[in-house]
Amino acid sequence: MTTAIIGTGGIGSAIARRLASGGEALRLASADSESARRLAAEIGRAAVGAVNNREALQGAGAVVLALRFTVLKGVMDETGDLLTDRLVVVPSNPVGIDAQGNIARLLPEEQSSGEVVAGWLPAGTPLAMAFGTMSAGLLESFSNRSPEPAVLFYAADGNRAGEEVERLIRTAGFEPMKVGGIEQSGRLEVGGDLHDLVVGPAEARSLIGGA
Ligand SMILES: NC(=O)c1ccc[n+]([C@@H]2O[C@H](COP(=O)([O-])OP(=O)(O)OC[C@H]3O[C@@H](n4cnc5c(N)ncnc54)[C@H](OP(=O)(O)O)[C@@H]3O)[C@@H](O)[C@H]2O)c1
Repeated sequence: MTTAIIGTGGIGSAIARRLASGGEALRLASADSESARRLAAEIGRAAVGAVNNREALQGAGAVVLALRFTVLKGVMDETGDLLTDRLVVVPSNPVGIDAQGNIARLLPEEQSSGEVVAGWLPAGTPLAMAFGTMSAGLLESFSNRSPEPAVLFYAADGNRAGEEVERLIRTAGFEPMKVGGIEQSGRLEVGGDLHDLVVGPAEARSLIGGA
C-alpha cells in the first residue's frame, strides 16, 4: 500500500522511516522539495520525493500531514479536493512558541485539535488523529518492541478511518488502541493524559477506561 507523508521534519521523517521499515510505499513532500527528496534517498526504494504536496497524493490511499498546527489549514485548503477519498492522519499538536520562547497552546483549553481539524477538511473526509502522542525519538526507539508491543493511541470517527489507521500503526511497529471519536483527541495532545506514554496493551486499556 502507498501512503503520502506531507512534512518531513522531526515527526514526519520518523513516521516515514517506521512505515517504510514495515513495508509501506511512501510518497514524500515538504515545503522545500529538496528535504523530501533527501529523506526519500535515505529511505531507499520504498520512498519517492514528490515535487509538491498535490503530486505526493497521487496513488496514495492515505496521507499523514506531519505539519505544524499553524500550517495545517493552508495545506488542507491547497489539497482538499484530493483528500475526500483518502484517510487523513494528523499527528500535529495545537502548540506553538510564544514571544518568551515558551510552548503555548494555540486553542482554548476545552477545544481539541481533532474537532478543529475536522472542520477544516471537506465533509466526510476520513480523519484519524494519530502518531502525535510520542516524540520522534520514542517512536523510533519503541517501534517493534518485544515481547510486548508498545501502544499508539488514536482518535477517529467511523469504521473506515479506524481500520485504515490501525493498519498504518501496525505497519509502523505498534499496537493500535482507539481512545474514542475525534472529540477525544485532547487526551492525545500535549497536556493530555495519554500524551508521551510508552505502555503495553493491558495498561493502555486500563488508562483509557480510567479517565
Ligand atoms: N517532533 C516531534 O517529536 C513531534 C512528536 C509528536 C508530534 N509532533 C507534532 O507534529 C507537528 C510537526 O512537528 P515537527 O517537529 O515534525 O515539525 P518540523 O520539524 O518543523 O517539520 C515540519 C515540516 O513541515 C514542512 N512544511 C512546512 N510548510 C509546509 C507546506 N506548506 N507544505 C508542505 N510541507 C510543509 C516542513 O518542510 P521543510 O522541511 O521543507 O521545511 C517540514 O518538513 C507539530 O504539530 C508537533 O507538535 C512533533
